[in-house]
Amino acid sequence: MDFHEKIAVITGASSGIGRATALELARRGAHVVLAARRAEMLENVAGECRKLGVRAQIVVTDVRDRDACRNLIAAAGDVDILVNNAGFAIYDSSEEARIGEMRDMMDTNFFGTVHCTQAVLPAMLARRRGSIVNVGSITGIMGFARMGAYCASKFAIAGWTEALRDEVIGKGVSVALVCPATTDTEFFMKAERGKQPAASRLILAVPPERVARAICASVADGRYRRILPLTATMFMRFKELSPGFAHAVFRGLTRLMERR
Ligand SMILES: NC(=O)c1ccc[n+]([C@@H]2O[C@H](COP(=O)([O-])OP(=O)(O)OC[C@H]3O[C@@H](n4cnc5c(N)ncnc54)[C@H](OP(=O)(O)O)[C@@H]3O)[C@@H](O)[C@H]2O)c1
Repeated sequence: MDFHEKIAVITGASSGIGRATALELARRGAHVVLAARRAEMLENVAGECRKLGVRAQIVVTDVRDRDACRNLIAAAGDVDILVNNAGFAIYDSSEEARIGEMRDMMDTNFFGTVHCTQAVLPAMLARRRGSIVNVGSITGIMGFARMGAYCASKFAIAGWTEALRDEVIGKGVSVALVCPATTDTEFFMKAERGKQPAASRLILAVPPERVARAICASVADGRYRRILPLTATMFMRFKELSPGFAHAVFRGLTRLMERR
């Protein structure tokens, strides 16, 4: 796919993977529309994108709000690329997890994806052109202890993405899922209320720029699912083939990490 002059909407563009994706798309020549709640941080990212010679617009958006997502898509114009990236986690045991925080994760991670996708899809289908990339996670392939609600929101994204892909296939719109493992962003400060869990340290963190390149690759080739890095791809394949054994291996490794 030629990214030049394409219009790309990126949610959660104020930091981390979203910011890196906006910059990567801008570097490839796409005009970017940046959405998140923190206006000042969006402005900074927009400024960096403009320096790369493209147009960059910010639309302050809370993806939990369906009308706000419709406004975002309307403000963007003829959207060629939508990256549903906005999301967060709060880790807690299933026993202690607070219902309000669990709902908030579903509202942001899953329904935020649904809101933006439903807003953009009719026009993409009418034009028979467009690409939607949803940012999932390895936690949407395998359940991890103390991350239950976050896992549920990412499993929901994976299931929805898979269904949507089959609905639109052959209609000119591609739908893809990118599943990063641990990525070096602000994410963990909120997720673990300042403390990163041992489970996340098992896999070496990748830089957000690497995830951004995977997102752009998915826009370009429409491949259904990318998991990164390679160690995570291999472990997730193992999990899908032999879930009981993979969970036992992971529990053992986690215990070892926690003892260190
Ligand atoms: N970091 C990891 O290890 C990792 C691994 C796998 C998947 N992911 C996924 O990658 C995505 C990006 O996370 P990140 O690691 O880049 O973390 P991050 O740096 O904390 O970025 C999260 C982004 O989501 C935005 N956001 C959160 N709630 C929002 C809301 N209600 N409305 C609009 N925007 C909202 C934040 O912007 P505002 O606060 O300005 O609204 C921010 O731009 C998430 O979906 C996350 O689940 C992360």
